[in-house]
Amino acid sequence: MEANLFAGKRIVVGVTGSIAAFKVAGWVSDLAKEEAQVMVVMTTAAERFVTPLTFAALSGNTVHTTMFADGAAESMAHIELAREADCLLIAPASADVMAKLAAGLADDLLTTTVLAANPAAVVVCPAMNSRMYAHPATQRNLAILRQLGYAIIEPATGMMACKEEGQGRLAEWEEVKERLARRFSPQDLRGVRVLVTAGPTREAIDPARYISNRSSGKMGYAIARGAWRRGAEVVLISGPTALPPPLGVKLVKVTSAMEMHDSVLSLADDCQVVIKAAAVADFRPEVRHRHKVKKEQAADEIRLAKNPDILFTLGQCKRPGQVLIGFAAESDDLLGEGRRKLAKKNLDLIAVNDIGGSDTGFEAESNQLHLVSASGVETLPHVSKLHCAGLLLDRVVQRLTEVSPAASSRDSSA
Ligand code: CTP
Repeated sequence: MEANLFAGKRIVVGVTGSIAAFKVAGWVSDLAKEEAQVMVVMTTAAERFVTPLTFAALSGNTVHTTMFADGAAESMAHIELAREADCLLIAPASADVMAKLAAGLADDLLTTTVLAANPAAVVVCPAMNSRMYAHPATQRNLAILRQLGYAIIEPATGMMACKEEGQGRLAEWEEVKERLARRFSPQDLRGVRVLVTAGPTREAIDPARYISNRSSGKMGYAIARGAWRRGAEVVLISGPTALPPPLGVKLVKVTSAMEMHDSVLSLADDCQVVIKAAAVADFRPEVRHRHKVKKEQAADEIRLAKNPDILFTLGQCKRPGQVLIGFAAESDDLLGEGRRKLAKKNLDLIAVNDIGGSDTGFEAESNQLHLVSASGVETLPHVSKLHCAGLLLDRVVQRLTEVSPAASSRDSSA
């Protein structure tokens, strides 16, 4: 999973008359780069903001603007577009087009195409002045669109082109793209509660200094994202990182190993899957000074106390059917260490990665995982961390099916 979810997907982008239409040019460009087949339909009002030529150049396809183009084949364009679309993304969706769709009108190519499409494929991204958005008529139309089975990606709040503040700005592409990625992912973790830990921990010496490690959190965040995309209910317990919170995931921020210990132990019992990608500090300073230590008064040594091994504790109280996965960042005897930790911590699987090189492990964008389990060792390809996460989650789904066969009845076609 996760090689490229967009490749080959047929996405119809319906552009309507809103100043935010120019932003959607960037979306179309990105979708085309992701190898999606993008067909743009523009309303007459949209053409006042951006030219069809812009969208044609960015999508690499002819832009559809009218119901009654020359030729019989063209007049059936709406049926053709609707039938073949994996997704019909209306962005920006003006108040006017939302009213038409709520009423079931079909007086131009876009509204006709929507009526001919599977409602579950329709995604609406409203963008308008905040008072227009808040108006009871618009809100009523939104509620109707939801009832019809269309997905709504709500507008953001902030300063708008009309220099007013409020809710009405077109949603950010990062969010829209992530929601599309979820639609294109198998929903084979739907209803499964997954706990992921990520990042380093920081063990304070005094208010200014701490002991930590090089973990960036990228691997754990990628797993949390991947699990959410596949329908899981995800809790991410994260040490300090510079990463943005993943969409749809419940994020619990912690600093020290002891805080991570308390959070994990309070939440793990409720989760069918626990994936411990965090690089937990094994030791903390025995004394945490209340005030900054001055160098003249500082001792030459820092005495350390051992932190509890969270994963070991989880392994001890693992309940039947729970899937427990560890990570190990190693620079020597990777597989030996993997086998040792798998047994010692009572895990279903441990993902070992090499921190000796520069393009795997800590801080890197890519990784190569060696999966060690009771059935042997599987070395995955060297790919992006999101792709690694997808491959690991494939094994989680397989394992869930083995430990609780009811899991195999989960819908994987949505
Ligand atoms: N781990 C944990 N609590 C700790 C230390 C580690 O939960 N106090 C978890 C990590 O999140 C990871 C796995 O245990 O999933 C392996 O971590 P690692 O640091 O490689 O294991 P250690 O048992 O600490 O072994 P080492 O002697 O190599 O540090």
